[in-house]
Amino acid sequence: MPSQARISDTEHLLHSWSSINARAGAPVVVGGEGAWFWDEDGNRFLDFSSQLVNVNIGHQHPKLVAAIQEQAAKLCTIGPNLANDQRSEAARLVAEVAPGDLDVVFFTNSGAEATENAIRMARLHTGRSKIFSFYRSYHGSTHGSITLTGEPRRWASEPGIPGVVHFMGPYLYRSSFNATTEQEECERALAHLEEVLMYEGAHNVAGIIMEPVVGTNGVLVPPDGYLQGVREICNREGIVMIADEVMAGFGRTGEWFAVDNWSVVPDLLTFAKGVNSGYLPLGGVIMRRHVAESFRDKPYMGGLTYGAHVLACASAVASINIFKEEKIVEHAQVIGQEVLGPQLRALQDRHASVGEVRGLGAFWAIELVKDKTTREALVPFNAAGPAAKPMAEVTAALKQRGLWPFVIGNRIHVTPPLVITPEEARQGIAIIDEALAVADAYAGG
Ligand SMILES: Cc1ncc(COP(=O)(O)O)c(C=O)c1O
Repeated sequence: MPSQARISDTEHLLHSWSSINARAGAPVVVGGEGAWFWDEDGNRFLDFSSQLVNVNIGHQHPKLVAAIQEQAAKLCTIGPNLANDQRSEAARLVAEVAPGDLDVVFFTNSGAEATENAIRMARLHTGRSKIFSFYRSYHGSTHGSITLTGEPRRWASEPGIPGVVHFMGPYLYRSSFNATTEQEECERALAHLEEVLMYEGAHNVAGIIMEPVVGTNGVLVPPDGYLQGVREICNREGIVMIADEVMAGFGRTGEWFAVDNWSVVPDLLTFAKGVNSGYLPLGGVIMRRHVAESFRDKPYMGGLTYGAHVLACASAVASINIFKEEKIVEHAQVIGQEVLGPQLRALQDRHASVGEVRGLGAFWAIELVKDKTTREALVPFNAAGPAAKPMAEVTAALKQRGLWPFVIGNRIHVTPPLVITPEEARQGIAIIDEALAVADAYAGG
């Protein structure tokens, strides 16, 4: 007999990116702790997804829950035009952990809203209109942010906002530039960007937005020199460099922000997800001083009723303090170097279907192929229905064994909460090891 929650979910809820029927049968989740969550039938799942790569601090961190309860008892909400201790402390802490002179924060309720505001700021700051973004990117599902998005989820929303230009970023495993080394990929991807800028007129370009490590579209770690090169181009052309750190920020890559891996300071940096692990909706844009100066005397024409929400800001304050006390960023780096990296790379040697393993920190992708030599993907690009069957079977095999995965296209992403223990990480990889037998059966190479 299905529970009332299950019945109402099926009858009354339309979930994200989903048809009503496709979502029927999703677990009704009733609890969680650390890297685990469980459903109403008592099934426990090791969360190798951090949900949507956002529960960085793990489920139900007791200090974070307590901080929210405490603030809820004091003051839940107050208009965004008023000052509040949690709001200003959250801004101070974000500025403290952000690189360079990224110092002034505009809070939103989501990553998509952070994207929208970042491109508006870039346009207002420069007086220019065009925004560049990668193919193979995700920036949110509001109208502007989905237009910037460089993958099939954009198609249903087209035509999008005017002035958006897509270009190819680096991805050596499937190089758009016939590169065979990291250095070649870096040089050619930068030359490609310069060429597209030339044809669009660099003086028309307000901003270049990019995920410093591309997330949903493949955990694409750029070659050393690429982000530095983009920084130089932006400096030369007066373009606002926008790092979308919604997924990669707050410890995911083993640094506070992904750009820290290359010591690059963007002009604007967007964040959400890991800032408070999604315990409450929160995102934002942090700007460097010179961009903030544009809004010192002239008002910034953007706002949200729930912007800098008091409860959400209180949770961000608690979360950032917990990160520091428990050295969560350092832990993510070590778990990547000592457990996730080596053990996932070992899968590449053992399995015919594993074409490439890449990542850093607690941010990894296993790219599955039919043939290691030709690199033909295990399922075609944007596969659905019967064409996606091999990946659907891999996903089912992982879930049956108690692992909750993040599977997209021909890849299994490994993005557990940053607090995962080495033992739990090994346990999860052992499950992936077993489930890959399903993929190997489709791999001829
Ligand atoms: C890189 C990136 N930017 C923006 C977003 C949008 O964030 P939200 O879903 O909070 O609107 C996401 C969400 O996955 C993301 O990964």
